[in-house]
Amino acid sequence: MIEVLFVCLGNICRSPTAHGVFAEKVSARGLAGNIRVDSAGTSGWHIGEPPDPRSSQAAALRGYDLSGQRGRQVSASDFDRFHYILAMDKSNLANLRRLVPARFSGTLDLFLPFANDLPAEVPDPYYGGGDGFERVLDLVEVASDALLDHLIATHSLKKVRS
Ligand code: 4NP
Repeated sequence: MIEVLFVCLGNICRSPTAHGVFAEKVSARGLAGNIRVDSAGTSGWHIGEPPDPRSSQAAALRGYDLSGQRGRQVSASDFDRFHYILAMDKSNLANLRRLVPARFSGTLDLFLPFANDLPAEVPDPYYGGGDGFERVLDLVEVASDALLDHLIATHSLKKVRS
């Protein structure tokens, strides 16, 4: 099982979106038995909360269900469990790098650069207008396809369907 963790600041907007979109794409390719997905925040500000309704609604309009998710904070044990820990922006990545134990042998990196021609960061939509949530989805959908292709190639996974 390959374990993938998406990380943002609050775990109510960007990383739950990545979690929901990527999990849907994993399932659509018949790889739910090979790849497990989760998300967390570097902050503890929204522990136990459902995703921001603006994220949930924007995702639902594209067919992604975020309703079962609840906010949690990234913890040291995540570095034992997850093989890929992918940050939404450079600030999240810097915070994760302060936590990473020397024994971690997985991939700790930004999420978007898995796809060519995307910016490095998913902009934080929390304090902005409604189109910020569409922008998050646009970026996350493209990067999720690229990440999935990368995992399939790197780990020689067999697609059941495409
Ligand atoms: P996220 O967005 O990191 O994409 O979940 C945010 C959510 C909440 C806050 C900041 C960013 N906040 O300041 O509470």
